[in-house]
Amino acid sequence: MGNILETKGLNVGYGPIHVIYDLDFEVPDGEVTVIVGPNGVGKTTLLKAIMGLATVYSGQVFFQGTDITKLPPYERTKLGIGYMPQTGNIFSKLTVEDNLKMAAYTVNSEKTYHDKLEFVFNLFPRLKEYMPRAAGTLSGGERQMLAEGMVLMREPKLMMVDEPTAGLMPKLVNDVMRQLEKMAETTGLPIVLVEQRAKRALQVGDKAYMMRGGKFTFSGKADALANHPQLNEMYLGAVDTVQAVKE
Ligand SMILES: Nc1ncnc2c1ncn2[C@@H]1O[C@H](COP(=O)(O)OP(=O)(O)O)[C@@H](O)[C@H]1O
Ligand SMILES: [Mg+2]
Repeated sequence: MGNILETKGLNVGYGPIHVIYDLDFEVPDGEVTVIVGPNGVGKTTLLKAIMGLATVYSGQVFFQGTDITKLPPYERTKLGIGYMPQTGNIFSKLTVEDNLKMAAYTVNSEKTYHDKLEFVFNLFPRLKEYMPRAAGTLSGGERQMLAEGMVLMREPKLMMVDEPTAGLMPKLVNDVMRQLEKMAETTGLPIVLVEQRAKRALQVGDKAYMMRGGKFTFSGKADALANHPQLNEMYLGAVDTVQAVKE
């Protein structure tokens, strides 16, 4: 199967702060690709660059073979790049129903709102019961379910999820990982999963990357990374943030 997403020689940052260096990233269609790495190495920045939310200094982003490097974020959403940010991914004061409705109407579609809802309820039946509730009253794991549901309402062809288990109690971590596994199995959607809980994420993934200092230090099969010494080093707390100022 081909790659649904690729970056070539990508250099990214925020204004003068250069974060990502010469990155070649490949996401095979229909698979789960996991990115692991310590805090502050540029994982979120890569997802933002793919969405058009960070400054690309050089290099390209290709989606389904098309160069999208210069497209604004909403055009990328319309093309089918789904993105669930780590924070601020739901509107807590709105009801679950209004959250899903807003998400549905960001993208024009042949499908009706009700068809999209059925699709989401089929995957996450519990959301149906929660429809009248304010989203802020859901538990951490349920909020992530809603946030995933919102991305699905936009009918993505690719789903990128940034640290869905951050800040969750250990008991809920597995629930959220299982939700993602179920989504991958039922929909066949290609997923990019960024996680600091590397060992669990690598069980979900097919392909994996390890990121350090804005570069990939491993790319290959998820199970090969699971048994790689680099993974233990990461758990020993080696933290390398990138703060190089671009010349
Ligand atoms: N909006 C921003 N402006 C300037 N620097 C940022 C911004 N967001 C992140 N950074 C910096 O970019 C680096 C990588 O951050 P990030 O991509 O969030 O890492 P990760 O997701 O791997 O934890 C960090 O040094 C961080 O301080
Ligand atoms: Mg991050």
